[in-house]
Amino acid sequence: MVRYDLDKRILHGGDYNPDQWLDYPEIIKNDMELMRSAHINTVTLGVFAWSALEPEEGKFCFGWMDDIFERVHQFGGNVILATPSGGRPKWLSQKYPEVNRTDSLGRKHTHGSRHDHCYSSPVYREKVRIINRKLAERYGQHPALSMWHVSNEYSGECFCEYCQENWRQWLKSKYGSLDNINKAWWMSFWSSTYSDWKQILPPSPLGENKVHGMDLDWKRFVTDQTIDFYQAEIAPLREITPQIPVTTNFMAEGQNNHDFIPLEGIDYGKFSKYVDVVSWDSYPDWNNNYESIAKTAMKSAYVHDQYWSLKQQPFIVMESTPSGVNWHQFNKNKRPGVHILSSMQQIAHGSDSTLYFQWRSARGNSEKFHGAVLGYNHSDSDRVFREVSEYGKRLEKIAAVKGADKKSRVAIIFDWESNWALKRGGGFGRPTRLYPQTLQDHYSVFWEKDIAVDIITVEHDFGKYDLLIAPLLYLVTEKTISKLQEYVRQGGTLVSSYFTGMVNETDLLYFGGLPDGLKKLLGIKVLELDTLYENEHNVISFKNTEYQTKDYSAIIETIDADVLAVYQTEFYAKTPAVTKKCFGKGTSYFLAARNSTDFLQDFYAKIIQDLHLGNSLVQYSLPEVSIQTRYNNSEKYHFFMNFSTKEKTMELTRELTDMEHPAKISRHLTLKPYEVKVAKEKMADEPNKW
Ligand code: GAL
Repeated sequence: MVRYDLDKRILHGGDYNPDQWLDYPEIIKNDMELMRSAHINTVTLGVFAWSALEPEEGKFCFGWMDDIFERVHQFGGNVILATPSGGRPKWLSQKYPEVNRTDSLGRKHTHGSRHDHCYSSPVYREKVRIINRKLAERYGQHPALSMWHVSNEYSGECFCEYCQENWRQWLKSKYGSLDNINKAWWMSFWSSTYSDWKQILPPSPLGENKVHGMDLDWKRFVTDQTIDFYQAEIAPLREITPQIPVTTNFMAEGQNNHDFIPLEGIDYGKFSKYVDVVSWDSYPDWNNNYESIAKTAMKSAYVHDQYWSLKQQPFIVMESTPSGVNWHQFNKNKRPGVHILSSMQQIAHGSDSTLYFQWRSARGNSEKFHGAVLGYNHSDSDRVFREVSEYGKRLEKIAAVKGADKKSRVAIIFDWESNWALKRGGGFGRPTRLYPQTLQDHYSVFWEKDIAVDIITVEHDFGKYDLLIAPLLYLVTEKTISKLQEYVRQGGTLVSSYFTGMVNETDLLYFGGLPDGLKKLLGIKVLELDTLYENEHNVISFKNTEYQTKDYSAIIETIDADVLAVYQTEFYAKTPAVTKKCFGKGTSYFLAARNSTDFLQDFYAKIIQDLHLGNSLVQYSLPEVSIQTRYNNSEKYHFFMNFSTKEKTMELTRELTDMEHPAKISRHLTLKPYEVKVAKEKMADEPNKW
């Protein structure tokens, strides 16, 4: 296992682009002094620096980078060194046009944007190998080097001839024969049967664009192809610097308006197996005008928890903004206090860093108005600089948190493949399938009650959780069905829902109202799935209270499950809407409809009580104050974060020690608007399980 915590400090710093300032030596000269006063200890160097490192093919200029390495080292900083493949130099595209991407319409791109290279191009792979090798040879033993940041935000697809050929090879090794593909993708439909491998092209708006099984395999191929490129990138790094950890920055996206969810295009569950530490770029829309800051915080917490859960170890926030971004429609600055609050939230959820895009804003080009530690005034007396430096000072006081673990007894399953498959094709409501967003609705119940939740994949071990929430698990394999059964049989509690178990791994339907294994586990079968328009609702009655449903109603029949709620209206009035079945030593629930948050709160309240999941630190949770805890062998670190514009007071059940001031924290804890307190306690002090 490669270590990544060379440093006991929580990493604080971020993208540093001296390559843009080589004509301004006085700026570079002052940078280190300013970094020291901003309590910065880490810089990410070299992202997009290829043309400064190799201005002509085979002619390398490392002098400026040598100088920066020395300066950073002298002030006691770490370098996270990027491989520069995210932005290729112009000479490369000019001489070898194959390195540029071809889109799904067959158009070859010209050199322009970053991240637009072909993952198959042998020339690109070779040129990347050369520059990466040079970097590893030159800086591999430098004491400031602490981590490799490989490329930048891998994403996208290429449809060139090389990629087409790789796609066919990938299919050959997966399916062996055309006959198997024809069956797996149901190609007898619309006379689509393949009779020659050369007929297989990638999906395209100009060609095959409705074959669901193909689309799903294409997404899998794109993930594998990206990982393959990444592995080619890291081969020289592993060879020359086996002691230096390797990561690549994952992303989150706002897909529909106001969403904040992990990037969907690449299966990060799979990718995470190939990195030493998960890192990601976190840009929630803080202080927006469409939701409370608590809601933004809940979404942000969800994504942090998902990235924590991939490897179940501390992760790195590789980028975040100290202020606003430049790429929203409206780019609001974080309000005073929100920078520290939102950054502490990263640490609370398992990050061992707060890193920024970027140290100093560029003077020109497209990101000059993006937030930076030194924003477009380049002044260290600006508010943002002062808040960053105050935050850096606070991080030094809570350094013991670095490397600490997290513990959750609740997990939500997110499956990239189900998401791809569910979003595809006709039927149902196109805008309302909303798989990750629905998971966030479930998550919010626990977030508001300060109950830690992991967001796992179907590959993770289910056995360590007391409660497993797996709604909309559209694509299920027999292996997953057996895992779910085993989990409940051994005493687990499972929550399932409509849109579950509809297709197998090649997107072929299961017949008979659910796969047999799920029928046994849930004690129901699904007869129909009704779609509601956005302004339509049904009503269910649960424990003598009525709740509105929306978007979807599965019409189900019980086999041997108990009915906890029934629909009130429509032709399926009085049929089951919520069921429960005891299976082995455990229990499974089925939610037939998409429910409102107030239903979810009441539904989970009983489960939380039965399983004793509640947070024992407080008498009662406040929905806008979030409490998260990290654990090491002897201590626990509790973060109390006020995501509201009002003062909040909570009643603690025991006395805690303030980590930043030599004092006890009052049991009657009052937090000012946006305030964060970090407390610690000895492990043995706490009576409950953890
Ligand atoms: C990231 C990217 C950075 C910068 C930033 C702006 O996605 O990695 O290079 O462009 O966005 O928010």
